[in-house]
Amino acid sequence: MEEGKKVMLVILALLRVTMAWSVVQPQVPCFFIFGDSLVDNGNNNNILTLARANYRPYGIDFPRAAPGRFTNGHTMVDILAQLLGFRDLIPPHAAAHGAEVLRGLNFASGAAGLREETGNNLGQHYPFYEQVEHFRNTVQLMRRIFRGNTTRLSDHLSKCIYFVGMGSNDYLNNYFMPDMYTTSYQYSPRTYAILLLQDYSRQLTDMYDLGARKVAISGIGQIGCIPYELARNNNRSNNKKTKGTVCNDKINKAINMFNTGLVQMVNRFNSELPDVKFIYINTYESSKDIVANAPSYGFSVIDKGCCGVGRNNGQITCLPLQTPCEDRSSYLFWDAFHPTEAANIVYANKAYNSTSQSDVSPMNIQQLAMA
Ligand SMILES: *[C@@H]1O[C@H](CO)[C@@H](O)[C@H](O)[C@H]1NC(C)=O
Ligand SMILES: *[C@@H]1O[C@H](CO)[C@@H](O)[C@H](O)[C@H]1NC(C)=O
Ligand SMILES: *[C@@H]1O[C@H](CO)[C@@H](O)[C@H](O)[C@H]1NC(C)=O
Repeated sequence: MEEGKKVMLVILALLRVTMAWSVVQPQVPCFFIFGDSLVDNGNNNNILTLARANYRPYGIDFPRAAPGRFTNGHTMVDILAQLLGFRDLIPPHAAAHGAEVLRGLNFASGAAGLREETGNNLGQHYPFYEQVEHFRNTVQLMRRIFRGNTTRLSDHLSKCIYFVGMGSNDYLNNYFMPDMYTTSYQYSPRTYAILLLQDYSRQLTDMYDLGARKVAISGIGQIGCIPYELARNNNRSNNKKTKGTVCNDKINKAINMFNTGLVQMVNRFNSELPDVKFIYINTYESSKDIVANAPSYGFSVIDKGCCGVGRNNGQITCLPLQTPCEDRSSYLFWDAFHPTEAANIVYANKAYNSTSQSDVSPMNIQQLAMA
């Protein structure tokens, strides 16, 4: 009886595994991620940098995951991977091995920017061009796995989704840090945006040449409204009249110039490059919507981080072993820079299946997967 029960349980377990296999097929065979701390999942863990999150309370709501995410739980791309039907998370490039790479890798690195010098104030990291170099090496490895069959290789690569979100640090940890960087003396915001977009365009063209065809580009969010800026520029968040939601317009204006050019770049790629589908994820407008309708998304605190120190909980990132706020799902920001998991879920859902042009255009990620 006891033995029979055991056998039965084993059979049931096996059945469940096979069913999971056959039912949960990802909508695309692979998912590659390029970006900064918003989507980094541990690539900075073993390099010399202050831009690291492999200590508690980072990851506090995600106890079994490898450490290194700059939030309390899942990042936006973790959630996108789940929505795309991946059973396991996409591994960080720094810790991936073997044929695992066929399913995709995460190359993102905290503090990284489009410009090489961006983020150097925080230490080492992998700027975008290096992330693309890592992808180039990965493609070489895949070529060997496919035994040199370039038809199979390019077919595989053309079906993957590539998520790219760069640029925030080129403003936060470069242009708007005039004590450390000279760019704001050298360039107007408009010229700076043009230069960044030239770099961006060049690297994205390299990705295209390597085989990327379905690319989701995330615009920069409302950086002028993150707790770090609210706390740093003035005491506006103590201002009762504005309830702490007055943002730094100078930064937001500069970001808007960049984003406008980015949309044009996406459109240009779609009309000029054969066989590609580029989409634009409008993080800026999405975040405006979330802030304007915070209660309907379940957020009651939108101007300070759940974890951090100083006025507004906004001055630096969450320190090791610091106690975060209790009700993490009611905060838009986890620390002075990064959204909570709850916010990442909202952003991911918008990118994945919103039908509003102010969230994503010309199509959403679900449609990109099927295209
Ligand atoms: C490459 O793979 C495809 C699909 O599996 C196959 O039809 C083709 O013959 C292969 N080409 C070479 C050169 O092996
Ligand atoms: C900000 O507010 C704090 C406390 O209310 C005050 O001590 C500080 O001087 C203010 N700083 C500025 C720049 O106004
Ligand atoms: C989008 O996906 C989320 C998560 O699966 C779901 O809650 C939401 O209802 C979906 N929205 C639409 C318009 O399909």
